[in-house]
Amino acid sequence: MTRAFYVTTPIYYVNADPHIGHTYTTVLADTLARYHRACGEKTFFLTGCDMHGEKVLEAARTRGASPGEVADHYARRFRATWDELGLAYSRFIRTTDPDHVRGVQAILSRLHREGQIYFQEYEGDYCVGCERFLTERDLRDGLCRDHERPPEKRREANYFFRISAHFEWLVGWIREHPDFIRPESYRNEVLGMLREESGLGDLCISRPKTRLDWGIELPFDRDYVCYVWFDALINYLTGIGYPDAPDFAEYWAACEHLVAKDILKPHAVFWPIMLRALGLEPMRRLCVHGYWNVDDRKVSKSLGNMISPLAMRDRYGFEPFRYYLLREMSFGHDASFTEAGMVARINADLANNLGNLVSRTLQLTARFAGGQVPEAGAPGGPEGELRAVAEAAPAEIDACLRRTDPRRALEALFRVVDAANGYLEKREPWRAARDPARAAELCTTLATACEVLRIVAVWLGPFLPVASGEIQARLQLLPGEGGLIADAVRFGAVPLAGRTVAAGPPLFPRIEPPEGDA
Ligand code: MSP
Repeated sequence: MTRAFYVTTPIYYVNADPHIGHTYTTVLADTLARYHRACGEKTFFLTGCDMHGEKVLEAARTRGASPGEVADHYARRFRATWDELGLAYSRFIRTTDPDHVRGVQAILSRLHREGQIYFQEYEGDYCVGCERFLTERDLRDGLCRDHERPPEKRREANYFFRISAHFEWLVGWIREHPDFIRPESYRNEVLGMLREESGLGDLCISRPKTRLDWGIELPFDRDYVCYVWFDALINYLTGIGYPDAPDFAEYWAACEHLVAKDILKPHAVFWPIMLRALGLEPMRRLCVHGYWNVDDRKVSKSLGNMISPLAMRDRYGFEPFRYYLLREMSFGHDASFTEAGMVARINADLANNLGNLVSRTLQLTARFAGGQVPEAGAPGGPEGELRAVAEAAPAEIDACLRRTDPRRALEALFRVVDAANGYLEKREPWRAARDPARAAELCTTLATACEVLRIVAVWLGPFLPVASGEIQARLQLLPGEGGLIADAVRFGAVPLAGRTVAAGPPLFPRIEPPEGDA
């Protein structure tokens, strides 16, 4: 049976344009989805927008528009941005989509009917930024840690979902499934949270319409709308056609959520318990990354220090920016964005290292073999060494991608690029070409370099799809030639001899460093 893979991003709030943080998660999901598709797995990549909640209402008030108009405007901007950047999601969900609204209401009715939702009065510290009541842990010096603003005291009669009864089960689940929350530091953080939260109460899942009327109406009480997080998390189910789509169960069993640490608690605590209440297993994995910081502060709409992916695309090209995001952040840790750092990384890895391999290999073939990939002769020591590096890479890249570590995967791939450049230095085809006695060696060198370039190009597919396609086109390869990725990256998988290659302009032109550090 074909394996399945289901990857999700958070559904983003619609109160401002996408920035580097949203772009990172979405690019990572796109990379994983492309990889699993290339492995022949049945893959679904879900992203979208969280249309409801108080943030949208606040934004609508500031702009003098209706929440629907504001939400619609920004949801279009998100979708258009991902489309322009070529991020190949399977569905872009909005929580106003009729199938989602129906799904949420059906779930609410069921949980209410089963007595898992009850009505009660409650008082607490509420943060509009988080859209939830805070606990002691969420506060620092009386301010919300994430939003750096004071919470409001709120007292309300509301509906509550019984989550406290499941904390013990959840601790057990996390202990028995060491890979459920990744990296381990976040797993430990969640276990810590659960130790502290166990004395605490249930989850408030409603908002009175008198205060907030922008949301999904509770099917059993028309005076209330559903709490935005309860509605939003359910997108991961409705997005793949819960409950009766034919492949729902198959995708659900293979579900991996990508989120940043800001939304660890709803995903690691509320969500598995909601799923349990519905009789579903938790998602297969929760992969948690750190923040992109600028000047040591998290990039966020509320702090106003956003880096726009479209502006980066216009200035540097999207794939160099995409490469930088995937290569620079160590998964689970924060990363610091600087334009100078990005330019240095792009110049070193793409313009020099990879760009050099592409142009040298193709230009040498053009110059010394009339542009036709020659037949390789018997391999010598340097060929054997290069081949060994190329053959070690697949297992490592695969393992890194399957544990959501694109940085290490790229490091492993670039070891092949380094080895290929080193190989050319050793074989010196520019010298061999001047010595008729080395004609056979020259053919072997050019053929081997072209073959490794082909393998590198196939591997680049999930990370840099446009560059990958371009290198393959220059090698006169058809898209998908060589079959599934595990086959296509084998040495000699696609015969290149006799193909006419095209050198072309530099793939990644060198970028002038910005003046000062942006
Ligand atoms: N709407 C909720 C998510 C509901 S999911 C059921 C939400 N939206 S958000 O627009 O605030 O997006 C948060 C997510 O955007 C983070 O978890 C992360 O994926 C991404 N990022 C936003 N800012 C970020 C950084 N500065 N750094 C890295 N990623 C961050 O929360």
